[in-house]
Amino acid sequence: MDKKQKLRSSEWFGGNDKMGFVHRSWLRNQGYPDDYFEGKPVIGICNTWSELTPCNGHLRDFAEVVKRGVLEAGGFPLEFPVMSLGETIMKPTTMLFRNLASMDTEESIRANPLDGIVLLTGCDKTTPSTIMGACSVDLPTIVVPGGPMLSGRFRGEKIGSGSMNWMIKERQEIGGYTTKDIREAEVCVARSIGHCNTMGTASTMATMCEALGLTLPGFSSIPAVDSRKKLHAQLSGRRIVEMVKEDLTLSKILTREAFENAIITNAAVGGSTNLIIHLIAIAGRIGVQLNLEDFDLVGSKVPLLVNLKPSGTYLMEDFFYAGGLPVVMKELRPLLHQRANTVNGKKISDNYDDVTCYERDVIATLDKPFQEKAGIAVLKGNLCEKGAVIKPSAATPRLMHHRGEAVVFESMEDYHERIDDPNLEIDENSVIVLKGVGPKGYPGMPEVGNVDLPKKLLAKGITDLVRISDGRMSGTAAGTVILHVSPESTIGGTLALVKNGDMIELNVTNRTLHLDVELEELFKRKKEWVAPEPLAKRGYVKMYIDHVEQADKGADLDFLVGGSGSKVERDLH
Ligand code: FES
Ligand code: MG
Repeated sequence: MDKKQKLRSSEWFGGNDKMGFVHRSWLRNQGYPDDYFEGKPVIGICNTWSELTPCNGHLRDFAEVVKRGVLEAGGFPLEFPVMSLGETIMKPTTMLFRNLASMDTEESIRANPLDGIVLLTGCDKTTPSTIMGACSVDLPTIVVPGGPMLSGRFRGEKIGSGSMNWMIKERQEIGGYTTKDIREAEVCVARSIGHCNTMGTASTMATMCEALGLTLPGFSSIPAVDSRKKLHAQLSGRRIVEMVKEDLTLSKILTREAFENAIITNAAVGGSTNLIIHLIAIAGRIGVQLNLEDFDLVGSKVPLLVNLKPSGTYLMEDFFYAGGLPVVMKELRPLLHQRANTVNGKKISDNYDDVTCYERDVIATLDKPFQEKAGIAVLKGNLCEKGAVIKPSAATPRLMHHRGEAVVFESMEDYHERIDDPNLEIDENSVIVLKGVGPKGYPGMPEVGNVDLPKKLLAKGITDLVRISDGRMSGTAAGTVILHVSPESTIGGTLALVKNGDMIELNVTNRTLHLDVELEELFKRKKEWVAPEPLAKRGYVKMYIDHVEQADKGADLDFLVGGSGSKVERDLH
């Protein structure tokens, strides 16, 4: 910022007229001295703290630490709440509300006298929702991710949050687990503050922030309880004040190169498929062209460098001890765009010089990765004209080329009703097809794509089947799961036309997903197809159903794409 250039907040606090008095006076009931309103950058600490978002339950404390940093640097910190999305509690799915929370963030930032923003995030959707909102305003912004929980430990066994959920069901059904066993497991998994401790969606989002250049380097992999997490939060508070002075806005950091860096990094850490939708939505807000195909073109050849659940063995705490994301970023140097800007004012290439790996079983080198070509594969074919995705690092190799008969479920309810019917015709070669779980259909595109296998197959020791849906899956889940099928079944995509017994052919090498049914027959089925009644007739959910875009476009609301800047056109009086 030019020295003579006025702070945005001075539009509120700088006047000596009636409105200047009003803006200052009411705030002064908190006891702020005169000089707080005289040219100090006002830093909004956008807090997704909520007791209903357990993963973000510690962010009230963190806000105080950030404030410490802001004050030290000569800024004026003001914390404000935005809608918080608790993954494990909100029904039907937090994804239904990601765009709503982004609107809350956007409008809260623009309408208030703020010069710079600190986003306090953690649980899955709290990161993309707030970044999307902040992008549509485009002030200097830094992200402070809340950090993962410590590793879980249950009866001598190391367990990851999220991953344990999938195990518990099996242990109940096959291992005879009682209520007492389950209660004990609950506290052993969630044994500290923080978000999921696997490379699930929350850790993926924190990683994404660092790869995009939106966090201080090294911040994203520190566990929530570690004192260094608070240290980084304080330094972020200091830094945002400088960023305001430098006018280092989001659009100066979030370039096409930054997005490509995030795709490459996500592949190397075996990150969640949810990143695809969120990254496309964020790009849409900041005005960078990013397509579904880019994830394959840019990321699919990137090798897997971390051995973390759900793809591997270890948890985020181990990752941090091994050196964390900085080691990965240093390894990835030959692949990353080195000149991308980051919030500390340096290029990404300047940030990871002084880095050591302490455990090569957790973080590999580029020469000896855990797996070659780990990135997301984008599939095309008559079953997914606009695309579908699969995460090869989480899939079963023998199923990646597969031809099998469809076992179709028309909805989630239909699935629950029939999956364990002893008469259901299903075997290890079947392909499960689940309809009605896309953005408009469910609505909200829940994380159900990795539906459980029928008990009778689990009892036979079968652990994976090809599963296809227009939904998402949890970042903590694994399997040969084809997700985000676009267009979704509810708007009449080919997925809607699949019938029991149809042959489906998947070829991940060729990136194809084909429904082996004659064109004529498909036309006939399409003619007979009747669109389902939308589930909501009023309120936000109706607006969501009417305006949500398909998964390949990031599932944002059509009218939210882009930004309106930070200018407020009309005054209070
Ligand atoms: Fe919040 Fe996993 S449930 S991060
Ligand atoms: Mg999740």
